[in-house]
Amino acid sequence: MPSSNPNPNSNPSTLLTSLRTALQHRKSKNSLRRLTLVPPTSTDFSSNDFLSLSTSPLFRARYTTHLSSAPPFYPFASGGSRLLTGNSPYAEALETFIASFHNAPSGLLFNSGFDANVGVLSCIPQPGDVIIHDEYIHASAHEGMRLSRAGRKVPFAHSCPQSLEDVLRREVENDEKLQSGERNVFIVIESIYSMDGDIAPIREFVEVVERVVNKGKGNAYFIVDEAHATGAFGPRGAGVVQELGVEEKMFIRVHTFGKALGSHGAIVLCCPETREYLINYARSLIYTTALGFPFLASIRTAYEMLAEGETEELQRNLQHLIEYLGNRLDALGSWDPAIFEVDHFPRSPIFSLRSPVPRQLAAACQRKGFMVHPIMSPTVPKGKERVRVCLHAGNTVEEIDGLVETILAWLNGRESEKRVARL
Ligand SMILES: Cc1ncc(COP(=O)(O)O)c(C=O)c1O
Repeated sequence: MPSSNPNPNSNPSTLLTSLRTALQHRKSKNSLRRLTLVPPTSTDFSSNDFLSLSTSPLFRARYTTHLSSAPPFYPFASGGSRLLTGNSPYAEALETFIASFHNAPSGLLFNSGFDANVGVLSCIPQPGDVIIHDEYIHASAHEGMRLSRAGRKVPFAHSCPQSLEDVLRREVENDEKLQSGERNVFIVIESIYSMDGDIAPIREFVEVVERVVNKGKGNAYFIVDEAHATGAFGPRGAGVVQELGVEEKMFIRVHTFGKALGSHGAIVLCCPETREYLINYARSLIYTTALGFPFLASIRTAYEMLAEGETEELQRNLQHLIEYLGNRLDALGSWDPAIFEVDHFPRSPIFSLRSPVPRQLAAACQRKGFMVHPIMSPTVPKGKERVRVCLHAGNTVEEIDGLVETILAWLNGRESEKRVARL
């Protein structure tokens, strides 16, 4: 009888024991991740679908028109890497259209924001270069940096121009090649941070870099990830960089389509030489099947809506709801921070309801049909655990009222539990 183990030299039980031990470790720390299903009737206060485009009838109508306007037998799958069969006039025209919307010289599509960040950061910094990054940048940027040939990767304190200046000065002082311009320094930031929803002080960062490094050498380069700003911030949703008018100060901008644009994928905006370099060296672009026509059409749909102003009302409504929820949460008054605290930055659709027991608060909201999620360490620093609430253009004032009343009822319950415990 043949052995059930195809490789008699391996011992699967050893491997599975290791996997089980790792999972057990997570369980014991209460940090085991699980896939969950969102009940279809729940109210979305969780996804990054900020403009509610994923359920928008306008989006759907335009998208299906694009799909059905494809000629008969037009391939719906790209069939290969962008460098082989995966390219098309449609993809190239889309890149030009998006780049022009963002006031950028050129753009290169990636299959996701994760791939874009990995592609850019793994190959653009040259051997010995220095990467200075905000301590809270996304996991995909960390993954790219891990693969990069940069000599040093140094964090600075979150969104702190003084900390950037200190780190930058130290790096420049200790590195003659940085001083002479033989080496480069990359400053990696996001424009809106996914967990706190705060906006980076990009202008101040630019001033720091120009003061400390760019005195005629021009060897400092900004890479900014606009994942959470795309569609929701800036003129017609073009992002924070365009709102500030600092496009030309950014070497690379990454915009992603899976959040407010209700689609999938990302674009790297850069100069044509950088685009050509990425086509040659970004492995997350080269060794993967390119986005097929249905994805490109959905990205095109979203950008047409932005460019034609069709999302402006959604953006206004989102801002109105943000203000409304902000006021309602303010009206809850101040609570013992050991129970509850709200962190919110003006104009941001992301609210943090900080609590030492975010799972309990999230569960109370979920029981009432409001989909929110607890965010635990290590996704956020220890002690900063929270329930993340995300608003969408499609939410209603009544839904927000329901959420706030649920939070209030939970808070009152917690307080009376504490009083009883003290007796
Ligand atoms: C700041 C940031 N960058 C990049 C990504 C990755 O983008 P995508 O979901 O398109 O892979 C995310 C998404 O979680 C993000 O929050």
